[in-house]
Amino acid sequence: MTIKKIISIASAKGGVGKSSITALLAMNFAKDFKVGILDADIYGPNQHILFDVENKKPKYIKDNDTTLMEPVESMGVKLNSMGFILDDDRAAIWRGPMLSGAIKQLMGLTIWGDLDYLFIDMPPGTGDAYLTVASEVSPDHGILVTTPNKLAIHDALKSISFFNKLDINLLGYIENNTSNQVFNSADESLVIKNQTCIGKIIYSEDIYNLNIKKSMNLVSDISRTIQSLV
Ligand SMILES: Nc1ncnc2c1ncn2[C@@H]1O[C@H](COP(=O)(O)OP(=O)(O)OP(=O)(O)O)[C@@H](O)[C@H]1O
Ligand SMILES: [Mg+2]
Repeated sequence: MTIKKIISIASAKGGVGKSSITALLAMNFAKDFKVGILDADIYGPNQHILFDVENKKPKYIKDNDTTLMEPVESMGVKLNSMGFILDDDRAAIWRGPMLSGAIKQLMGLTIWGDLDYLFIDMPPGTGDAYLTVASEVSPDHGILVTTPNKLAIHDALKSISFFNKLDINLLGYIENNTSNQVFNSADESLVIKNQTCIGKIIYSEDIYNLNIKKSMNLVSDISRTIQSLV
């Protein structure tokens, strides 16, 4: 079982589009590569919903004393998520060690097989989940997602220092929900920190309505750019 590249998709601010973009990128990558997604959002997993496999479960396989999980496969992407394992409200009370234990198990007990790319859908913030992913999963690269508003950019800047501290190589940022009205969009502040704008995604009703298949093409250029960077 080898995983060639691990890419984590992150933002300090919540609701900027990490999960949607992770799903869209993975589907694009899956046209040419073997791809998986680890949903590291233990409190608010979403990948099972985005891939419309809410009622599926990983297959459990006994291996001596441990139980391994066959990931759920959808649209050519191998998925594992707390969303398959716990009812939505159960994980909400987990803290510290339980949270990092859950991420470790999802990563370590899943039979990923050989993958070219594993995407990690991170929860919002800069907390325990990030420390666990940095130490246990060791992503090769990180990508930030931000919206063009000032508060999101402020939080994105915080994430940059956090990623630097964790020693994860940031490929740059994706600006989501880009509007046609150009105020002073994300570039200006982020360029100061020498971050590359990997691409911009407009507001899309298909993304909003969770039609990920229909919205896949919105990130095909971004997928190619990432492939050229890693
Ligand atoms: N480009 C877009 N156009 C329209 N709707 C979008 C777009 N990007 C994201 N959304 C919508 O915004 C909401 C939040 O997106 P998403 O859950 O992907 O963000 P997130 O950063 O993963 O959130 P969280 O921090 O809670 O994990 C979703 O309802 C999604 O459908
Ligand atoms: Mg999310």
